Amino acid sequence: DQPLGGGATAVARAHSNIALVKYWGKRDAALNTPAVGSISVTLAALYTDTRVTFRPDLSGDEFWLDGSRSDATRVSRVLDLVRRRAATDRYAVVSSTNNFPTGAGLASSASGFAALAVAAAGASGLTLADRELSILARHGSGSAARSIFGGFAEMHAGVAADGSDAYAEQLLEPADWPLSVAVAITERGEKSINSTIGMGESATTSPFYQAWQDSAADDLAEMRAAIAARDFARLGELSEYNCLKLHALMLSTRPALIYWNAATVAAMHVVRGLRADGVPAYFTIDAGPQVKVLCLPADSAAVRGALALVPGVHEVRMSALGPGAHRLE
Ligand code: PMV
Repeated sequence: DQPLGGGATAVARAHSNIALVKYWGKRDAALNTPAVGSISVTLAALYTDTRVTFRPDLSGDEFWLDGSRSDATRVSRVLDLVRRRAATDRYAVVSSTNNFPTGAGLASSASGFAALAVAAAGASGLTLADRELSILARHGSGSAARSIFGGFAEMHAGVAADGSDAYAEQLLEPADWPLSVAVAITERGEKSINSTIGMGESATTSPFYQAWQDSAADDLAEMRAAIAARDFARLGELSEYNCLKLHALMLSTRPALIYWNAATVAAMHVVRGLRADGVPAYFTIDAGPQVKVLCLPADSAAVRGALALVPGVHEVRMSALGPGAHRLE
């Protein structure tokens, strides 16, 4: 056993994020590097708080999620990297709470692994730059690399064999361009096929997979330009296009990945109806049935009201853009 600096315990909060240009597919499964880059916004309303305590008396890592003992395999993957850097062999107790339902397609892995990276680094006495924290979070979940940053973030796929250039960077602070995101919850259970399994095994069986990879650079460049110009219509149209392109890929894999339910589809039509009525609102959907709708803060109430009326929508949560991952003490 090696002594640890920094008091051996730390608490961190990280917010969930939603990708506007999404990644799907891995470049290297062991390093968990993505096949393509991605651009996201961090959500103020959805977050995870995580406490990490390294202890001399443990024979393995312990992971508690919302008060229940859970499988620590992915958590240990991140902790192993921290242990190596901090030159310790102590195991840790990790305790996480989400302020939203876990595993329902609300990106709990993004906020969860970003909070874990910051808390584990802190508890081990390491001082890591945001870029290194982003790489650490990536080993837990690709989307988590972006939740280290607030506002708008871009994840780079990277080319290095060791994954050292596959990290996220901030594009804008939340205050640089305030936007609202409505999250329409159409299913409460953990029914979706987990994204790691979905993109790992079957993604490449789609005849559209090559086209998905080949068109990523154009989408990223156009999204960067829309963000730099604060062009909301361009950002929104591109987000919907990229989302539907991803779902076309998912639908065409063997076995097919059908993440939508009836309410998901109904909500998509309502968003298009809002636009026809002059309200700029655009949807995006990840590997789950929930619908996230981008709008301007002034249109929040109209968008929320329209989504709440969709049959099968249980709840609509509104969010502003949120901050990056940070220590809570
Ligand atoms: O990195 P994961 O396992 O959370 O997968 C993310 C997959 C998508 O949410 C569909 C896309 C993305 O870029 O967030």
